[in-house]
Amino acid sequence: MSTISDTHKIEEVRKDLVRLNSEARAADPLMEGITRLLHERMLKYNWVGFYMLEPGVKPPMLVLRHFQGAMTPHTRIPLNQGICGAAASSGKTVVVDDVSSDPRHLACSLETKSEIVVPVFVHGVVAGELDIDSHFPAAFGFEDRELVEYCAQLAGKRLEGT
Ligand code: SME
Repeated sequence: MSTISDTHKIEEVRKDLVRLNSEARAADPLMEGITRLLHERMLKYNWVGFYMLEPGVKPPMLVLRHFQGAMTPHTRIPLNQGICGAAASSGKTVVVDDVSSDPRHLACSLETKSEIVVPVFVHGVVAGELDIDSHFPAAFGFEDRELVEYCAQLAGKRLEGT
């Protein structure tokens, strides 16, 4: 259940994302800025990072690019592993309210309780994803999902060079 103040916070963060998108001169500074903004402003977003598919590698591999939060042991994730692998291989957003009940989950921190992973599309093809962990159970409601999907779209558009 989201409150009016949650909604107001998300609206403010969206405005800052629009500004960031207009100021960032390339995809990498934009993606780095998105991770920083979400991690600093969204108090339940305790780890925020982009994984990108390594170009030309078989089998496909997700490689950690920009992130905020504690260092993770999972810097390279094959598509058949983890919630990250599930989101990238299906091309669909995955929200897990209780990671302890999901056998796919690869633990980054023992404090993590819930997670959202949103694919990043470039010219209609999955090129990577935006992964967010929370120390709070069921931290990602509908408005969070919309916000994180918006961030993934900004990154994908910029990676397309538009
Ligand atoms: N939990 C992810 C692995 C990445 S760490 O959370 C940073 C997964 O299950 O794929």
